[in-house]
Amino acid sequence: MANSAESQKLVICGGRRLGGEVTLQGAKNSALPILAGAVLCNGECVLHNCPRLSDVDAACRILSCLGCKCSRSGNSVSINSSELVSFDVPGDLMKEMRSSIVFLGAIIGRMGRCKLSFPGGCELGPRPIDLHLAALRKMGVDIKEEHGFLDCRAEKGIQGAAISLTFPSVGATENIILAAVTAKGITEIHNAAREPEIIDLSEFLKKCGAKITGAGSGTIYIEGTAKLLSAEHEVIPDRIVAATYMCCAAITRGEIMLKKTNYRHISAIIPILEQIGCKVYLYDNDKLFLTARKDLKAPGTLRTMVYPGFPTDTQPMMMALASTLDGTTVFVETIFDNRFRHVSELLRLGAKISIEGSVAIVEGVKRLSAADVDSTDLRGGAALVTAALNADGVSKVSNLYHIDRGYADLEADLKALGADIKRI
Ligand code: UD1
Repeated sequence: MANSAESQKLVICGGRRLGGEVTLQGAKNSALPILAGAVLCNGECVLHNCPRLSDVDAACRILSCLGCKCSRSGNSVSINSSELVSFDVPGDLMKEMRSSIVFLGAIIGRMGRCKLSFPGGCELGPRPIDLHLAALRKMGVDIKEEHGFLDCRAEKGIQGAAISLTFPSVGATENIILAAVTAKGITEIHNAAREPEIIDLSEFLKKCGAKITGAGSGTIYIEGTAKLLSAEHEVIPDRIVAATYMCCAAITRGEIMLKKTNYRHISAIIPILEQIGCKVYLYDNDKLFLTARKDLKAPGTLRTMVYPGFPTDTQPMMMALASTLDGTTVFVETIFDNRFRHVSELLRLGAKISIEGSVAIVEGVKRLSAADVDSTDLRGGAALVTAALNADGVSKVSNLYHIDRGYADLEADLKALGADIKRI
């Protein structure tokens, strides 16, 4: 959803070698389902390390509509869900954030009823929710799909069920967990998503009294409990922001110390960066230092996969970096249909990329050249910023509302690392 960031631009004078340290923000993709999970709790939950993002603001607006009391102090958000007044999520709030579908499992779990609009498509192409709905139907939820709305009822309560996902969808796994924690009986999720954000959501719910085992593996068991209490929780570091900053450092052949990180969550990214010629060191278990040589080499073929594989969310930034490497990199996008929208903008910055279906072939060039470009989506926007840091001259990146959905401090962090960047 466009906001004041619609008319703002990032002005980046490329070519400065980055160096220094940054502290990672909390993970957007953990904070959002946990905020939804707070709907299930009777009392006040406090979420620490909750990043200041427009998507988090949108989630808080949904919570307020339901009757929760939300407030923020620094990076901590308090949510009091003692008295809910509505099970209806207004269409404009659903549209603001596609991942608002994760509220469905939580609202139906707490209220026995939920009305919301169909999330529809987004910048990455069609975003179906068939797996979410099939699972909830199996758990006894009656779902009517009419005029773009979903009207869901489980007035006699939700029943635990054995669910096998045909694809390990992150959002579907989260929705099933949220619906199952207060359901009657036991729910099994087979072929569950194994992303770190699933573990983080489960850890939060367990602190509130939920009984969940197996989160982070392909099979999750949830034993329903009548009521969840409240808890305090610290959101895990954002692994996609970590990968973004590593790509930014590498594209300027610079170096970076990432503080408050979890190297296990980026275990698919580190070997790629090492393969191209970067050195990566771990300190004190939560700090990563990356230093890049001048003559980095293309890594060959990178295929996006579900966790713990190469994440689709890092494909755009890695493609910006690959545009400056010696040799050819082939990207195979297997998760989303429409995840090469940044390519046309990278071409304007001098990259040499051709697309054939779900494959992008990137021929490295010596240096990118500055241009005025438009962010196409959240990570696509981050890829353009990454590319502009290398480009010869002054680039302007617009449509910043995409970037503001997921990066709390992008320009401040890059400036602290020595980039010539400002928002106008
Ligand atoms: C989450 C992340 C997103 C990331 C994605 C994949 C959040 C808020 N977003 O999105 O940043 O890119 O995981 O790692 O956590 N699918 C279906 N039917 C469904 C559900 C999904 O066909 O019911 C398909 C999707 O179209 C897509 C694939 O499954 O092709 C992956 O989607 P999913 O894992 O559900 O991603 P999200 O939870 O939407």
